Amino acid sequence: MSETHWPHKDLLDVEDLSLSEIIRLLDMAARFKEINERPVKKVPTLRGRGIILFFAEPSTRTKTSFDVAGKRLSADTFSLAVSGSSITKGESLKDTALTLQAMSPDIIVIRHSSSGAAAFLAERLDCSVVNAGDGRHAHPTQALLDAFTLREHWGADMSGKTLLIAGDIAHSRVARSNVLLWNKLGVSVRVFGPRTLLPPGISTWPAKLYDNLEEAVKGVDAIMGLRLQLERQQAGLLPDLSEYAQRFCIGLKHLSLAAPEAVILHPGPINRGLEISAEAADSAKSRILDQVAAGVALRMAVLFTLAMRNEVE
Ligand code: CP
Repeated sequence: MSETHWPHKDLLDVEDLSLSEIIRLLDMAARFKEINERPVKKVPTLRGRGIILFFAEPSTRTKTSFDVAGKRLSADTFSLAVSGSSITKGESLKDTALTLQAMSPDIIVIRHSSSGAAAFLAERLDCSVVNAGDGRHAHPTQALLDAFTLREHWGADMSGKTLLIAGDIAHSRVARSNVLLWNKLGVSVRVFGPRTLLPPGISTWPAKLYDNLEEAVKGVDAIMGLRLQLERQQAGLLPDLSEYAQRFCIGLKHLSLAAPEAVILHPGPINRGLEISAEAADSAKSRILDQVAAGVALRMAVLFTLAMRNEVE
């Protein structure tokens, strides 16, 4: 088997990846990180390859980092947003995707508000499809970049570590992908959220559920705060926002209850003072901007792996 062989056409969710495949992507991202630190941040590896970024929901980090990642590998990247596309004239997701495929991209990166949208396309298209976030379902490259960030802090042997994921779990594709990934990596996961912001079936997740934030943070090695996804909320799920902040905002007092070397992550965008305090987000323990930097290296690894998966060396 050549070094570039990869058995998956698409990246839809971390549950499709084996432990060795996850480690391979993290190791490759570490090598690509070095390119991002050079004065000239570009290599010719994917010259002539085409990547379409099809974002049907807003994004700053994911979309920009896939674009930067593709360009740093010398691929041609093209962006399509819903506003300005023929979706606003009623074109279906399937027809939009088939139209994009007719332009012969190697990879389509898609973000969509419907859970399963990326899998729907992957079944119908010959090119690779990368899920950049589908509804409440999955955000695999976010979970992988979170693992990359914590591996840089913890080292390669992460067994025995504990991570707390706290906040709006119900609406979070990041939480779901992270729980799956950390279990594969042998890290214990705790979850905490207001009762109305827990998804049905959370008791079956491979994670320990807490109903008290102070108890949940005790002794953990990392805390991941989640954005309160107000745009996906139904009325009545929350008390007013100031009460939410008072009861559930992660601050320095929570970090002081965690392990001495504990760090805080957040996938972004953050609502300062709502789910995470400004002091915690800006503290020396924050790894939020490291996550953004990791996103470029990790997405370079994903694009390279999928584009080269059938190449014979
Ligand atoms: N974490 C994340 O997906 O951020 P964006 O919505 O800005 O891409």
